[in-house]
Amino acid sequence: MNNNASSLNNKIKFLVLGCGFSGSFFAKTIRKLGCTALTSSRCEKKDPNSFVFNSESSVIPDEKIFDGVTHILSCIPPDKNGNDPVLRRLQNKLKNLSLEWVGYLSTTGVYGNSEGDWVSETDQPNPLQKRSHNRLNCEKEWIASGLPVQIFRLPGIYGPGRSTFDVIRNQKIRVISKKGQVFSRVHVADITNAIIYILQNKNSLKFHRIINIADDEPCSQIQVIQYCYDLLGLKMPKPILFEVAKKELSPIAQSFWMENRRVSNKLLCETLGYKLIYKNYKLGLKNCFLNSKK
Ligand SMILES: NC(=O)c1ccc[n+]([C@@H]2O[C@H](COP(=O)([O-])OP(=O)(O)OC[C@H]3O[C@@H](n4cnc5c(N)ncnc54)[C@H](OP(=O)(O)O)[C@@H]3O)[C@@H](O)[C@H]2O)c1
Repeated sequence: MNNNASSLNNKIKFLVLGCGFSGSFFAKTIRKLGCTALTSSRCEKKDPNSFVFNSESSVIPDEKIFDGVTHILSCIPPDKNGNDPVLRRLQNKLKNLSLEWVGYLSTTGVYGNSEGDWVSETDQPNPLQKRSHNRLNCEKEWIASGLPVQIFRLPGIYGPGRSTFDVIRNQKIRVISKKGQVFSRVHVADITNAIIYILQNKNSLKFHRIINIADDEPCSQIQVIQYCYDLLGLKMPKPILFEVAKKELSPIAQSFWMENRRVSNKLLCETLGYKLIYKNYKLGLKNCFLNSKK
C-alpha cells in the first residue's frame, strides 16, 4: 500500500478552506505533489493562490475560484451558533460542483470524557463542552449535506512553530500535574500525510466516514514538557498541582483538563494501514526542535 502519496496528480484542484496551521501545511504538501491548491483566509493576502472567505461577511468568493474544483478540505471551526461556516455560506455552491471528495477537520472533543479509557470511531460521541456539542453538530451537518465527506477527528495538533517549545520560548509554560491525566496529540505532518494516504488509496480502501488521526502514545503533559526541557538542556520548573494551578487558568484552559481520554488510531493505522511519521511525542518534538534550529 502506498504511503508516500506521489500519484496524486495535476488534474486535482483543491480548495483548502481555512488556511491556518493545518490547512497551510496540507496545501504546501499537496502542491509539491503537483496538485493545484487554493487556500482561504479571512483577510486578503499577497499570495496569488489565496482568496478571501469570511463566513461573517456576506462576500462570497469569486466564481472562478470554484472553477474545476475536485477536492475540498475544510479546516474552519464551528461558528458561534454552532453551525458550520462553510455549509452556511457555500453549501449550494459546493453542491453544484463535481466534487470527488470533501475532508472535514473535526476534533476528538466530541468523545467527551472517558476517564482515561481509549475512545474510537465506533464509540457514541458524548460531548461535554459546548464547543464539542457545536462540533458534533457541524459533523452532522456535513454528513447531511450529501457531499462526499470524510471526517477526521483530531486531538491536540502540534508541529514546527506550534509546540511546547514555543510555549517555553514565550515564557507561558505552566507545568501542571494531575494524577492519571493524559492527552492525545498529533503532529501536523501526520494529519496531511494520513489524508493524502487515504486519498491515494481511495479505490482499494474501504470507505470510512469518520477517522481519528492521533499518534500511538497518549501521555501526560509533564512528560512532554520534561522532554522539551531535556532537549533544550534546561531544568524544568517545578510542577504545580492542578487543584492549585486551576485558579489561574482561563475557563477554556480549565476545560481541557476536565476531559481525560486516549484516542485510538487503530482504524487508521491497523485497518487502513497508514504508517505514522511521528508515532509519539518524542519523535514529533525532535522534529520541532530540529526545525527551530534551521
Ligand atoms: N489546534 C488544535 O489543537 C485542534 C485540535 C483538534 C481540532 N482542531 C480543529 O481542526 C481544524 C484545524 O485546526 P488548526 O489549529 O489548524 O486551525 P487554525 O490554525 O486555527 O485555522 C483555522 C482557519 O479557519 C479560518 N476561519 C476561522 N473562522 C472562520 C470563519 N468564520 N470564516 C472563514 N474562515 C474562518 C481561519 O482564518 P484566518 O486564517 O483568517 O484566521 C483559519 O484559516 C479547526 O477546525 C480546529 O478547530 C484543532
